[in-house]
Amino acid sequence: MSGEPGTPAVRLWGGRFEAGPSEALARLSVSVQHDWRLARYDLLASRAHARVLHRAGLLDDGEAGRLLAAIEELSRDCQSGAFRPSAADEDVHTALERGLLERAGSLGGKLRAGRSRNDQIATDLRLYLRDQARQVAARIAELQAALMDQAERHLGGPEEAGGPATPAPGMTHLQHAQPVLLAHQLLAHAHAFARDIARLRDWDRRAAICPLGSGALAGSTLPLDPEAVAAELGFSAPASNSMDAVADRDFAAEFCFAAALAGVHLSRLGEEIVLWTSHEFGWAEIDDAYATGSSIMPQKKNADVAELARGKAGRLIGGLTGLLTMLKGLPLTYNRDLQEDKEPVFDAVDTLLLVLPAMAGLVASMRFHRERLARSAAAGHALATDVAEWLVRRGVAFREAHEAVGHLVVWCEVHDRELWEVSDDELGKISPHLTPEVRAVLSVTGALAARDTPNGTAPRRVAAQLAALREAVAADAEWAASG
Ligand code: ARG
Repeated sequence: MSGEPGTPAVRLWGGRFEAGPSEALARLSVSVQHDWRLARYDLLASRAHARVLHRAGLLDDGEAGRLLAAIEELSRDCQSGAFRPSAADEDVHTALERGLLERAGSLGGKLRAGRSRNDQIATDLRLYLRDQARQVAARIAELQAALMDQAERHLGGPEEAGGPATPAPGMTHLQHAQPVLLAHQLLAHAHAFARDIARLRDWDRRAAICPLGSGALAGSTLPLDPEAVAAELGFSAPASNSMDAVADRDFAAEFCFAAALAGVHLSRLGEEIVLWTSHEFGWAEIDDAYATGSSIMPQKKNADVAELARGKAGRLIGGLTGLLTMLKGLPLTYNRDLQEDKEPVFDAVDTLLLVLPAMAGLVASMRFHRERLARSAAAGHALATDVAEWLVRRGVAFREAHEAVGHLVVWCEVHDRELWEVSDDELGKISPHLTPEVRAVLSVTGALAARDTPNGTAPRRVAAQLAALREAVAADAEWAASG
């Protein structure tokens, strides 16, 4: 921001005041350092408003032409940096009015008719967020693509394409539970991100309501055309209640929630990557480009990207909490507290646009250790459920089967054996139902293939799940590129 001390301060509300604001008030009140990023949208709304004033006969042809030309010139100057807010500008609206007065003279003052900063700011923020929602969705789709590509790489195929699918130990309570495909687990994360985009798309429908034309709170005595303004700005409709239009920040809170939940998903993926790349798990290695070292321990290779993703979820949740807390006690309609809506939403956008590409790169470049994963998949007696369900298929009540396999597991633990290392003799002693045929289900490959429910971990099912998800992500990416 330029501090030009000589710039005469433009104020939008000076008329009824004899003295200027105190230094302390001015410093508290100023928001242009944050809301300047809305300038582009404020100018788009100004252009639409100028056209409406013209059609209403409040600007003649010549005035409308000159005003629109000045708005275009100001837009260009904002883009090039030739026009910048000064330290004396209270907010983005004040700065842009100054810019307009500098370019159009006193004609610039006509644009304020029929609108208020209250309906302007609500409009600007919606326009900005609708754009940013698409940016965020596009970056989420890229992360999903990275997860899906890794999944595909580990789905198996002919020998020359890498051999069989990569198994992994599926966990509950962070304990080995049942074998799964690594691809299945990677796609589980991609599904969470699919819901994040679905939430943004759903949010966008509710956010597509235009507050402009509501004035300060009660509508306008001037013959405005809110339908035309809404259409020009790409909204689906004007707001139906002018008081709600200037007081409502649901769209900001909902956006922050969608961002916070995406942040939670990034954090959970980050936590898994921290575990996977630890020595104890040893499932995967991070590419050098996405790892960091230690200033003292030369051997270290740390998962800082994943940790920052995990850490930044905290600020996203904090932003949402702060925003909701700010809103909860506000009487209708506009209150200056509402100015505090911007930092949390801007921070949510900035945070996600920072974290998502780093996580996409991290995931895309990670190398998984197939051998280690395969060995680990069967560990911890992870095939115990398969034995129990084998007994059920042979007519044993599950309750009894569960009991018998429990004894088998204890025997294995006492004797330090795997399930498949128990002799036929020993099996028979543990339970007469445990005949040697049980060995047929004591393999990870068999266990995976047997989980053949449509959402299950059988390779052919995971391949179908991947194909369906690819289609959904393509549709989401198309939405993200729209508008
Ligand atoms: N900077 C203000 C905000 O962000 C703009 C609206 C000001 N309205 C007012 N009545 N003071 O909310």
